[in-house]
Amino acid sequence: MLMQGKKALVFGVVNERSIAYGIAKALRDNGAELALGYAAEPIRKRIEPIAEKLGAQFVFQCNVSQDEEIASAAALVAEKWGNVDCLVHSIAYANREDLAGRFIDTSREGFRVALDVSAYSLVALCRAFEPLFAPGASVMTMSYYGSGRVVANYNAMGVAKSALESSVRYLAVDLGKRGVRINAISAGPVKTMAASAISGFRTILETIENRSPLKRNVSLEDIGRCALYLGSDLSSGTTGEVIFVDSGYNIMGV
Ligand SMILES: NC(=O)c1ccc[n+]([C@@H]2O[C@H](COP(=O)([O-])OP(=O)(O)OC[C@H]3O[C@@H](n4cnc5c(N)ncnc54)[C@H](O)[C@@H]3O)[C@@H](O)[C@H]2O)c1
Repeated sequence: MLMQGKKALVFGVVNERSIAYGIAKALRDNGAELALGYAAEPIRKRIEPIAEKLGAQFVFQCNVSQDEEIASAAALVAEKWGNVDCLVHSIAYANREDLAGRFIDTSREGFRVALDVSAYSLVALCRAFEPLFAPGASVMTMSYYGSGRVVANYNAMGVAKSALESSVRYLAVDLGKRGVRINAISAGPVKTMAASAISGFRTILETIENRSPLKRNVSLEDIGRCALYLGSDLSSGTTGEVIFVDSGYNIMGV
């Protein structure tokens, strides 16, 4: 059991289609103790039965755009657990109007929100939980191919993912001094609530089926297995990386 005795904090489960759910399940199936952070009170009702099914020890509210909520979450986790071995950041948000049409039309506020929730939140969580990270702890976040290549309608989220991946590299240096690792998984498209906000998402799914080396889309289990590698000691020498779980789509040229 690769995660036996390890405590994993997972941010970003909203339903059983969430990538964070697939990751939480993979970590739990391999022995991890879990706690789940959710964005806002209305989500509590949805997440409680999921937490029970996963055997999570507790759930807590943490809107990552609010510093006070991050601080309370860290205080609660310090009280309940004392330390953390694995932190999963699987959170993104952009206004729907900024995930369609021309990127040039992104508003200042739309850009700010996308970058704040989807990229800065990783920095804020790492800072708040840094004192709790056990030696050898592992942080992971979720990115997408649209960080480095233009994907139709991904727009402000592509820029946010670019900032997220760069943040992973800078955070790797800060956290590395204490032996803590941080990496990103760049997942292929998965039909989730967040993905449904992206205009033309079905075309993206079809493109992976037609053009990727594996000729299929990835599953939550595929992503969960990579998360297990990153969360466990199997990845003890790896930090600051972006690892693709995308059926190999990113390697393709013409
Ligand atoms: N679905 C895909 O195709 C795909 C591909 C690559 C990467 N990703 C990334 O995976 C991550 C998870 O997304 P998903 O596809 O599983 O969708 P999802 O809708 O299941 O999860 C997104 C989560 O972000 C949370 N969230 C949004 N704003 C928040 C806030 N202010 N505070 C706290 N939580 C907040 C939501 O509550 C939700 O739990 C995101 O970073 C997304 O960009 C998704």
